[in-house]
Amino acid sequence: MITLGIESTAHTLGVAVVKDKHILSNEKSSYTTASGGMIPVKLVEHHLEQFSNVLDRALAKANIAIDDVDVIAFSQAPGIGHALRIGATLAKSISLVYKKPLMGVNHCIAHLEIGRHFAKAKDPVLLYASGANTQIIAYDAGKYRVFGETLDIGIGNFLDSFGRYLELGFPAGPKIEELAKKSKKYIELPYAVKGMDVSFTGILTNLSQKIAHHKKEDLCFSAQETVFAMLIEVTERAMAHCNKNELVLGGGVACNKRLQEMASLMCKERNAVCFTPENQFLVDNAAMIALTGEIMHRAGNKTTLKDAGIKPYERTDDVKVNWR
Ligand code: ATP
Ligand code: FE2
Repeated sequence: MITLGIESTAHTLGVAVVKDKHILSNEKSSYTTASGGMIPVKLVEHHLEQFSNVLDRALAKANIAIDDVDVIAFSQAPGIGHALRIGATLAKSISLVYKKPLMGVNHCIAHLEIGRHFAKAKDPVLLYASGANTQIIAYDAGKYRVFGETLDIGIGNFLDSFGRYLELGFPAGPKIEELAKKSKKYIELPYAVKGMDVSFTGILTNLSQKIAHHKKEDLCFSAQETVFAMLIEVTERAMAHCNKNELVLGGGVACNKRLQEMASLMCKERNAVCFTPENQFLVDNAAMIALTGEIMHRAGNKTTLKDAGIKPYERTDDVKVNWR
């Protein structure tokens, strides 16, 4: 079975081909800026301009023609409406022209499924740390449940906003990681864990007030140490509460080596296994959409043209998981 996956929830436009759970290609083009954040209209322009190029590359690398595809999977939820609409419209058009069935996929669940696939993990907890999302997720009784999450912005958005104050451009996460490596000086910051949830906006305000008085390397180091410790604390508590001993990392922020180190250390101390997929499958990617689309399609799920509208606000725990 060959699945074409289309990812378009935010800044990344991706196309991938998966055959019987083997990833044959995983192509993308991401919208970036030298300074400032994402402008929705520019995002739309970028995705529309790049689509045929990315699609051609994905088909060529997989060495297939579009007629060979059995299912068109697309990221239907959640995300920025402008971006989601592009992916859904392209998927629907291909489905109509080539008479292929559609499979709408929840992007957050796709992050989990690709991690589970590569880790060969049976029943992991997922620490999903990306731009817009920060959730600790685990399977229980027919759904992926959210055990803890951000009460305001995602951790990546926190890093990108902090980066804007420092004029680092978008995305700022990797640049903050590089600056943080140059310091070991911890500057006290608020620590915001509330039960199983975390919050970032207060820390962001606090950091913005400190910019004039400290070296940016020290602020980057302190910001990372604080917010990553918060994530690891709630992740550990979720693992203990659910009695699970596998951890999978997902989302663009999970590319960060310091976060990976803290997660591994925590797992080692509790005799658990920590697994981090390679970077191309941590950041937004179409391979995870194609893979999850295949798994869902095989389980008998269908997305009709009428049901293929975007769901920008669908939550991880809204989706009935009938493939586990
Ligand atoms: P989602 O739609 O799942 O919320 P997203 O659109 O934000 O995801 P991702 O590619 O998963 O996309 O994550 C992008 C985020 O990851 C950005 O905020 C970026 O700054 C951050 N990021 C990328 N690399 C690193 C890194 N090395 N350290 C910290 N943050 C990083
Ligand atoms: Fe994502």
